Amino acid sequence: MDKSLKRSLVNLKDFEDEARRTLPKEVYDYLAGGAGDEITVAENIQAYNRLKLCPRVLKGVGDRDTSIKVLDKQISTPILIAPTAFHCLAHQEGELATVKAAVKANTIMIVSMASTVSLEEIALTAKEVTVTYKPNLWFQLYIQPDAELTESFVRRVENAGYNALVVTVDSPVFGMRERDIRNGFHTLPEGLSLKNFDHVNSKKSSGEKTTLILSAKLTWEDIDWLKSITRLPIFIKGIVCPDDALIAMNHQVDGIIVSNHGGRQLDTLPATIDMLPQIISVVNHKIPVIVDGGVRRGTDVLKAIALGADAVAIGRPVLWGLTCDGEVGVTNVLNKLKHEFDLTMALCGCSSVKEIKKHLIYSHTTP
Ligand code: GLV
Repeated sequence: MDKSLKRSLVNLKDFEDEARRTLPKEVYDYLAGGAGDEITVAENIQAYNRLKLCPRVLKGVGDRDTSIKVLDKQISTPILIAPTAFHCLAHQEGELATVKAAVKANTIMIVSMASTVSLEEIALTAKEVTVTYKPNLWFQLYIQPDAELTESFVRRVENAGYNALVVTVDSPVFGMRERDIRNGFHTLPEGLSLKNFDHVNSKKSSGEKTTLILSAKLTWEDIDWLKSITRLPIFIKGIVCPDDALIAMNHQVDGIIVSNHGGRQLDTLPATIDMLPQIISVVNHKIPVIVDGGVRRGTDVLKAIALGADAVAIGRPVLWGLTCDGEVGVTNVLNKLKHEFDLTMALCGCSSVKEIKKHLIYSHTTP
């Protein structure tokens, strides 16, 4: 990347603008788009902008620490990489570039089941990065109608050394993505495939190819079943309604990801940040709560934590970084957001993530 382009990529929106310029239109639209009128896609971002901060001064913020612990493991910032499909659409190195950036940044990458590199290869690449700490990878799972197939995925994920499973529960069917319909974007370009399923299919002598299926029949019993077959911690991703957070707690899940799938499944849902406070009152800090959707600024990260989240996850911005410059681009996106978050902490009077509390959100009603 030339120097002047590099200098112009100042914030996460700049990376998106550059990705829009360089990606084929149908690919950019698939990644950026959402369901229906994309009201939720926009709302996820606008809701953060509506929230205003009320900083504290003279708090001695010379020594700041942005690190947190999730599932007893230290990571450098409360900014995780959300699962997104098909990284090879953005860059030829795909998920391998993303995972190298994630490990070097000492954060968690939640690897999508719909990856264009196999989960084993991603884990191996993570292990090959020279760092003093252990890579921290989680795996996003769509429970498949075929229990044996789902179980085979769980075993592969365990054997590859992943630290948690993230079960997406907001997708009994695929959302209506009108940009994809207009662009006729229904299959992966030549040469790309769901690599995790290539692995399954290469073991078959003939017959129908197995592929990823969204199951409309899933219920909470499937979560109980999943818990019964693995000791990996299980996060439920796609909780929007506080009542579902309560049910998830009753099923003893290990964590919740408050998510509306980046507005890609059901349109006209509220922003995740607007649902977060109600979910936090139900969960009451008994298990970790991560929120994704619309995080583009360090101020957004601080707002989510102030409202009770343990961490945020970013999806699309990682793909824009990947498009712009592969591993380096993802590193830049992660570094820029971390830097903004650190500045926001300083300017709000916080030296550690634990000090980020609700009083930092401006409210007309709070004295
Ligand atoms: C996949 O989960 C997608 O939203 O495209």
